[in-house]
Amino acid sequence: MSKPYVYVTRLLPEHIIEPYSDELEIQMWPYEEQPVSIEKLEEESHRADGLLTMLTDKVDQGLVEKSKHLKIVANMAVGYDNIDVDAATKFDITVTNTPDVLTDTTADLTFGLLMATARRMVEANQYIKDGKWGPWSPLLLAGTDIHHKTIGIYGMGRIGEAVARRARGFDMKVLYHNRSRKTEAEEKLGAVYVEFNELLEQSDFVVCMAPLTDETHHIFDAEAFRNMKKEAVFINASRGATMNEDDLYHALEQKDIAGAGLDVFEQEPIGKDHPLLQLDQVVCLPHIGSATVETRHKMMKLCLDNLVRYFRGDSPLTKVN
Ligand code: DGY
Repeated sequence: MSKPYVYVTRLLPEHIIEPYSDELEIQMWPYEEQPVSIEKLEEESHRADGLLTMLTDKVDQGLVEKSKHLKIVANMAVGYDNIDVDAATKFDITVTNTPDVLTDTTADLTFGLLMATARRMVEANQYIKDGKWGPWSPLLLAGTDIHHKTIGIYGMGRIGEAVARRARGFDMKVLYHNRSRKTEAEEKLGAVYVEFNELLEQSDFVVCMAPLTDETHHIFDAEAFRNMKKEAVFINASRGATMNEDDLYHALEQKDIAGAGLDVFEQEPIGKDHPLLQLDQVVCLPHIGSATVETRHKMMKLCLDNLVRYFRGDSPLTKVN
């Protein structure tokens, strides 16, 4: 019997792929840093039984309805806003994601971004590189304290909780807002549930960890930034479209808020002339939340495990629909 044909939309390491080749016939897009072309993705999705996709690949209604054999899309990300899950479900296509394996790694990056922004670490590094370091002075590159401040986490999923755990280690007061109350997080972490506006008004650090949905699209807009403290720092490590970037830029320029740390943007990648990059009080990263070698390998393997399990007739480990 022929093996199920799986197309992988980015070049992944051979040592990750090889153990699965007994059970799957695997072809890959030949570039590691270039996303698959739309034409190639269309061509392959018509032919493939399974796809292993990246968050940069758009799997929309048009694509799934033309995909004759496609049974499963294994997305290498915990977020799956790049996939039209309703359309996939309608055509009986299973969608999987990669939760859990990236939780701590992404929380580490998020908290690191918060620290780098609050303590002006990137600016300070640039200051030395620019040859500006002269005599010590009392308020040179003085930032804002993190310990004993209030963090407000918007989106208390697994990664939100892991950020809260890190915040507790810094003696922070933890507020959160989520679609549903997380009583376990409240008990374990002393996190306090508040309404969205209260979160904005009371937090020194507002951290967006919510997935991108119709409900969260542009939730951080001009009004939200106006409702934050003037000293507040906004951190976004979920999806760029949860914030209105123009509104954020104006809020920072008008000093409605003090700073921002961003790992995600509305349209990625951003170029070096992006307005937010021109502001000293903003730290920008190129969507590297889960980017450690260990975690990225685990994400790849989880996708492949899901594919193998599906074609063996077992339930994938991390099904979305
Ligand atoms: C995810 O998994 O959704 C992350 O954004 C990838 O780093």
